[in-house]
Order: sequence, then structure tokens, then C-alpha cells
Amino acid sequence: MRLLSVISSLLSINSSIHDVLASGPRVNLTIGVFEGLEANGGIERFLGIPFAQPPVGSLRFKAPVPINQTFTGVQNATMFGNACVQPPSSSLGAPTGEDCLFLNVWRPENVSTDSALPVLVWVYGGAFNTGAASDPEYNATILVQRSMEIGKPIIFVSANYRVNTFGFLASADMAVEDLNNGLQDQSAALRFVQENIVTFGGDSSKVTIWGQSAGAGSVEAQIVYNASAGLFRGAIMDSMTGPFKSSPPPSTYDAPGKPFALILNATGCSAGPTAFACLQDAPTEVWQPTVAPGSFSPARASETIASGEFLHIPMIAGTNLNEGNSFSASLLGLNLTGYTQDLAFDNFVRASVIDQTLITSDVLDQFHKFYPANDPSEGAPFNTGDSLFDRAAAWYGDFMFLSARRRFLDVAASLQPTFVYHFREFIPGNNVTLGVSHASELPLIFGPVPAVAAVEDDFAITWRDFYINFVNDLNPGSAWPQFTNETRQVLQLKRDNITTIPDGACAQSIWSSQA
Ligand SMILES: *[C@@H]1O[C@H](CO)[C@@H](O)[C@H](O)[C@H]1NC(C)=O
Ligand SMILES: *[C@@H]1O[C@H](CO)[C@@H](O)[C@H](O)[C@H]1NC(C)=O
Ligand SMILES: *[C@@H]1O[C@H](CO)[C@@H](O)[C@H](O)[C@H]1NC(C)=O
Ligand SMILES: *[C@@H]1O[C@H](CO)[C@@H](O)[C@H](O)[C@H]1NC(C)=O
Ligand SMILES: *[C@@H]1O[C@H](CO)[C@@H](O)[C@H](O)[C@H]1NC(C)=O
Ligand SMILES: *[C@@H]1O[C@H](CO)[C@@H](O)[C@H](O)[C@H]1NC(C)=O
Ligand SMILES: *[C@@H]1O[C@H](CO)[C@@H](O)[C@H](O)[C@H]1NC(C)=O
Ligand SMILES: *[C@@H]1O[C@H](CO)[C@@H](O)[C@H](O)[C@H]1NC(C)=O
Repeated sequence: MRLLSVISSLLSINSSIHDVLASGPRVNLTIGVFEGLEANGGIERFLGIPFAQPPVGSLRFKAPVPINQTFTGVQNATMFGNACVQPPSSSLGAPTGEDCLFLNVWRPENVSTDSALPVLVWVYGGAFNTGAASDPEYNATILVQRSMEIGKPIIFVSANYRVNTFGFLASADMAVEDLNNGLQDQSAALRFVQENIVTFGGDSSKVTIWGQSAGAGSVEAQIVYNASAGLFRGAIMDSMTGPFKSSPPPSTYDAPGKPFALILNATGCSAGPTAFACLQDAPTEVWQPTVAPGSFSPARASETIASGEFLHIPMIAGTNLNEGNSFSASLLGLNLTGYTQDLAFDNFVRASVIDQTLITSDVLDQFHKFYPANDPSEGAPFNTGDSLFDRAAAWYGDFMFLSARRRFLDVAASLQPTFVYHFREFIPGNNVTLGVSHASELPLIFGPVPAVAAVEDDFAITWRDFYINFVNDLNPGSAWPQFTNETRQVLQLKRDNITTIPDGACAQSIWSSQA
């Protein structure tokens, strides 16, 4: 062990010896020299590059701090860094740990510092509570390979950001500049990309940010709140949640039963000015971004959107046919003995939002009108025959995704080029009850398309090309007309039937006639 470390420090001092042994590509970054993985399939990868100081110790719960040192010797960038703290899972592709602010780069081989390739930065979803850039599903090899094949090469970057308690701790007792530090981590990663991407062969003036679900909500937050102004020029939002769906102020989290109160209880810390310093071993809780004057997000997203005072950049945004299904699956076949279906529906609605003050009985009455119990013999899109599931799925999809997209684009579409899709392709092998579910497009875009769904191969390539075109030209291509509030045409993404359809046809299945 000791001998090995002596040898490796000798190697990093004596670069000529190291050069002989080295096989991976190297980049000279602002923070030091990093060696990545040698090309595989024409793609070089640099994994686990730190873009901010480890947010540990006194930096826990604080806004990210730039790295203020240069690493000496050649740094090993061949393995993903930790995923941020959350329940461990093999789908994260890495262990979890608080020291998690790392990014990863996929680039074509044979690029040089003057290649000036456009850059796509990926922001993962996971309800602001889970997710990691190292998730094997977010392997950009196929996407970058495709960009090379069509002569529009791109560089792909994925970056971690803190989630749950560690990224979104909120309380009236917290300093406003530290609120939403998960979103601030994304800004820090984008700043790092600005300073370093040229070294990888990228063009810092051609950065597009792309996210899905809470990742798309994050992208929208970066646009609405302008905290990353000048760091990107285009945006892609798959199934955006709307960054702050109920925009609770930090004090919401302090109420009995809410996350901050739960954490104080679990840790034995007392409420008040000392609480923040006391939280040394905070367990994870479910959080959403928060809104407070002076913070990353000084006003409700709906107010900022209505004012039109957000970044005016080209955007792609879209939703899937059955966004809500996977989220309401817990209601399938629910035993309703002892209570009504309406009550079960109301409970589901309440459990879906943090800020209960918005769920008044008037609001619930409206929901009952728009999402009535249906004739079980009709079923919902996939004939589940389960009325409670169907209406909850329709409500959740509209509330969380479709309305967020429409609300933003109602204003944005007249201020900036906007391209909208509606994904309506059921992928063979998926669960029929869940339909064209949330996130079901990602295996197509990232690939590889599962063998059972090989029929989708060409369609998947078409979708990749739309995004690659956009990253290059800020336009997905001539097949996809711009969305305007006058025509309200969106692109239906369906195998063998990619065509424009009216936005009004987007509401889920049977509910569209009533919406
Ligand atoms: C990296 O770049 C810096 C600044 O340009 C330079 O001083 C340094 O010598 C370079 N290091 C290597 C190993 O190329
Ligand atoms: C990179 O350059 C090497 C050596 O010239 C060549 O063999 C390889 O095909 C090139 N790769 C690509 C993707 O062009
Ligand atoms: C870098 O920042 C850390 C924490 O903010 C601080 O403790 C350290 O002294 C700084 N180092 C330098 C070289 O400025
Ligand atoms: C980087 O780390 C990996 C895993 O520990 C190791 O296999 C590899 O040899 C290291 N590469 C270099 C260049 O040190
Ligand atoms: C990504 O996929 C490629 C091709 O399947 C594979 O070679 C590579 O190891 C995977 N992981 C990363 C981090 O690129
Ligand atoms: C703290 O949690 C314990 C155990 O769950 C519970 O009995 C107690 O009432 C809680 N206290 C507060 C103030 O919420
Ligand atoms: C965004 O911030 C930049 C830099 O501070 C500023 O120049 C620009 O006017 C801002 N845009 C909006 C829409 O607030
Ligand atoms: C539903 O719940 C009731 C009351 O708890 C119980 O009596 C009944 O057996 C349950 N029905 C089924 C199908 O589980």
C-alpha cells in the first residue's frame, strides 16, 4: 500500500515516466491536468471531475464554492465520482457520498482545443430528491457517436447536483443565499463548463442545457431566474415539472410534520437560529425548491413568467401521453371500502403537494369537475377499468407536467423560438397500464433501444437527430415547425407518424374532450 503510493507520487512528479505508462487522453483544466478513458467506439470519456469544493463540513447546506486550488500531478478521471446523498441504488452507477460535485464529459476522439464543438449539458431528474449523472441510463456514447455520424459532432457533459435535504434544505432560519443550493450546483457546473470546455474541444458560447422531469424543471428555473445568464444559449425540457409547482416559502418547511420540523425531531436539534448549525447528520427528507426574496429564486415562478422577465433563448419542450400513470400506480385496485372514490382522489392530490394551503375545497371541486369518476367500462387509455387510477393519472399528468409546460410557453412562445413535442409512442416491452409513461423516451434518446423494442430504432435515431441539430443550430430541423400561440401546433412524436397536431389534443385520452 505504502509502496504503491510512493510509486504513484513519483509517477506524478516525473511526467516522462508517467507519459510512458499513460494511455488515456489528457486535458489541462483550470484546476489541473486530468486523464480520462482512452477512446472506445470513437468516444473519449472524462469521469468524476470536481467542479466545486466538496460541500462537506462547514460547507454542508451552503451554496457551492469554487475550487480555489490547483491539483498537482495528473488526476485520474476514469471513474464516476460519488452520487449525491440519497438511498443507495445500483441505478445510480456510483456509491453515494456528500462529496459529490463532479461532472463527466463524453467527446469525440481526435478533437483539439480549437475544434469549437457545441456542447450539451444534461441535468437529471428525480423529483429534486434522487438522481445522478453516473446513472448508466445517461450514457451519452450513442448520442455522441450519432452526432459524429451525421457530421454534427457535439460534446456531452453531465453534472451532479445535490438533492433532497442536502440540496434543498429550507427553513425560515436559513440564509437566503444558501436556499436551493441544488440549483446553484447546476449553475456552478455551467460556470466550470464555461471556463474549461474549450480545453476539451468545445465552444463555450454554444452550450445547450437539457433536462428531464425535475431536470427539466431545473432547466426552466435556470431560464426563469436568470442566475446562470450567459452560461448557455439553448434549452431542452423533457416533461418539465415547472420549477416550483407550489412555490412554498421556506417557512412552509418549518410547520409541524413538514421536512424541516421532521429533521429537527430526528436529529434532536432545536428550532430557531441554532438549528442550522446543529444539523450535522441530517437524514434525507422529501423537498422541493423554495422561493424567497434575495435567494436564487426571489419570486414565484408564475409571477416571473407572467412578467416575461426571463431569458429569451431558443427552447424545446414536450410532454408524454401518460405522464401521470406511473405516479398514480399506487391507487390501482385500491380497496375503497369505508370511503369514497372522491376522498381517495383528494388524498392523492393532497399528498402530491407540499404547500397544502393551495388545496382548498373550491380547488378540489374544480378537480372533481375536470377529472370526474369515469364509467369503469370505458377505462382510460389502456382500458384499466380502474376509475380512481385513471382520473388520478390524468390529473397528475396535467397538473405536474402539461400545465407547467403550457403556462410557461403561453408567455415564452411569443418571446423566443420554441419547439414543442407530444410523445405518443408506446414502446414494446413497457407496462401497458403505465402507457407512454414519464421518462419512457429516455431509453430511445440515449439508447441503446432494448432488443424487444428494436422496431423503434429508426424513430429513436430521428429523435436523437432533432436534439443534435438543436445543439448545433438552435433548430431541430425542418420537420419540426416552431410553436406559436396563434397556431398552437406541436410535433407528435410517434413512430411512422411524426406530424404536427394541435396542442389541444394533448390532454390525456378521454379527458381531452372535457378540458
Ligand atoms: C496547464 O496550463 C497552464 C496554464 O496555461 C500552464 O501553466 C501549465 O504548464 C499547463 N500544464 C500542463 C501539464 O500542460
Ligand atoms: C482518429 O484518428 C485516428 C488516427 O488517425 C483514426 O484511426 C481514427 O479513425 C480517428 N477517429 C475518428 C472518429 O475519426
Ligand atoms: C480554499 O477554500 C477553503 C474553504 O472555503 C479554505 O479553507 C482554504 O483556506 C482555501 N484555500 C486557499 C488556498 O485559498
Ligand atoms: C485510475 O483509477 C482506476 C481505478 O482506481 C485505475 O484502474 C487506473 O489505473 C487509474 N488510472 C491512472 C492513470 O492512474
Ligand atoms: C457507455 O456505453 C459504452 C458503449 O456501450 C460503453 O463502452 C461504456 O463503458 C459505457 N459507460 C461509459 C461511462 O461511457
Ligand atoms: C418526534 O418524533 C417522535 C417519534 O416519531 C414523536 O413521538 C414525537 O411526537 C415527535 N415530536 C415532535 C415535536 O414532532
Ligand atoms: C440576466 O442577467 C444578465 C446578467 O446579469 C443581465 O444582463 C440580463 O439583463 C438579465 N436578463 C433578464 C431577462 O433579467
Ligand atoms: C376491503 O377492506 C374491507 C375493510 O377493511 C375488508 O373488509 C374487505 O375484505 C377488503 N376487500 C378486499 C377485496 O380486500
